[in-house]
Formats: sequence, C-alpha cells, structure tokens
Amino acid sequence: MQTELVQLLEGQNGLTKAVIDNEFARCEVYLHGAHVTSFTPKGGDDLLWLSKTAIFDRAKAIRGGIPLCWPWFGAHPTDSTKAAHGFARVSLWQVISVQTTELGATELILGLKASEKTRKLWPNEFELQYKITVAQMLSVELTTINIGKEPIQITEALHSYLALGDIVKARIRGLSGVCYSDKVDDSKVIEQVGDIVVKQEVDRVYMNTQDSCLLIDDVLMRTINISKLGSLDTVVWNPWAVKACSMADVHDNGHQTMVCIEAANVLDNVITIAAGERHTISQSISL
Ligand code: BG6
Repeated sequence: MQTELVQLLEGQNGLTKAVIDNEFARCEVYLHGAHVTSFTPKGGDDLLWLSKTAIFDRAKAIRGGIPLCWPWFGAHPTDSTKAAHGFARVSLWQVISVQTTELGATELILGLKASEKTRKLWPNEFELQYKITVAQMLSVELTTINIGKEPIQITEALHSYLALGDIVKARIRGLSGVCYSDKVDDSKVIEQVGDIVVKQEVDRVYMNTQDSCLLIDDVLMRTINISKLGSLDTVVWNPWAVKACSMADVHDNGHQTMVCIEAANVLDNVITIAAGERHTISQSISL
C-alpha cells in the first residue's frame, strides 16, 4: 500500500478514518461502514452533508456522508427485528489497496467479507469491494461478488447526503417524467412533473431511471451533478422538521441544508447474482 496517498488517522470517538488529500480534493472515509463523510474539492466547500450531531459508534450508522445500504434497503423484507438498510454501514471494513490512477486521481479500495457475524444476519457467502476515487469528481463504486454456490439477491443504495444552502430554494433536475413510489403517501405511484422542490417530508423511490440528476443551489451558487451506473432507481429523501427533530443524530434545522439523492436498486429491481458472478453499482458526485 502506498501510505503517502492516504493517511489513516484517529477520527471521532476513536474510529479510524482514511484521509485523502490530493491536488483535486480532500476526502474522509471511516472504515466503520466504509463511510465517506466528506468530499471537498480544492478551494470549495464540502459537497456532502454531515450532521453536527452525528453519532460515531461501532454499532450505529453515521448520519450524513454516504452510508452504504446493503444487502437490503429499508426494512428487512421478512424480519422486522433486523436493522434497516442492512449491515454494511455498521461493519468494519479493511483497506485493500490505494493507488494513483493515470490521470492523477487517488483510488482507495476497501473490502468486506462474509463472517460468522454477517452469516447470522444474512446467510450468504460474499465479498464486497468498495472503490472510492478522489479527483475533481468523487466516484464511489460498490461491487458485490457472490463467492457462494447459490444465487444471492440484494437490494442496495449509495445513500448520499448532499449539502445545500436552503432546501426550499434548491431544485433537483433530471427526474421529470419518471414515476415514483411515495413512501409518505402509502406508496402511491405518481409521475414527477418538472424539477423537484422539497417543501415537506419527501421519501420517494423514483423507479426505473438511470439518468443523472442536477442539484441546483442558487444560495451556495453551485450545481452538483449526480450520475450513476448499475442503478435502476433513484431515492430522494428529506425527513423534514418533525421527523428530523425526533432523530437524535440530526442537528437543529439540519434538514434545511441537506437532501439525499441515492443511487439504488430497490422495490421490483432486486438484483440476483449467480454463483461466481458480480454486480456493481456506482455514483459520481461533482460540481
Ligand atoms: C431513506 C429511506 O433512504 O433512508 C427512508 O427512504 C429512511 O425511509 C432514510 O428513513 C434514513 O434511514 P436511516 O435508517 O438511516 O435513518
């Protein structure tokens, strides 16, 4: 490993974080959850939102950044005692490699393998590789490898929390004409018309879309481009004031400066991976 490319430091509450600081950007990644908590292009502000009251605890997911929802998204499909969004975001990942690409980007690969602990939650044999590429753009790429003898099925999301100036003044472009399942309205299916403007709780799965989104922010005077591959759904989430108040790890009025735009495969788009095969979902975030 080329240790000069990445520093392993003690982060909040003693958890280890990998810090990449290259000519393009600075990025922080906790090994707990393989959780990217910050991506700040040089001379600019963080593109990711991190709650000021985020809890850094080995048993909990960090509120903000990019949690990995895997191998199930949302509630477990059959067992309500299992934690929402799976266990990848609360597992300790290992550093596999770090290198500089031909274009000068820093590429960090983290890994997670099936263990006694994961088999109790999910009986399948797997390997996960998570590639984080830091350039002018942040790219994250999660590969699931089925190393077992049976097919496996997953749902998943790269649950990115994006920072913005003022939620009611921001617009999300790119999903007009796409139908969404509205989790705050009994999963009613509604077609999106025009840009999304968030003025209340929003929890939607935009179904069967592979398109990029733009987060247009006239307050911070920037537009974030969010593109993806290997993802058939886009989740848009903001808990809004009442729900955010009930969450200990969202700071006061924190919902006003964030929105989640998540590359996902959920609902009908369950991914089946045959024995020996792999599947990759990725998302890129840039100005
Ligand atoms: C979103 C879901 O992706 O994540 C929401 O659509 C959920 O329903 C949200 O509330 C946050 O989940 P959690 O488990 O991190 O609080």
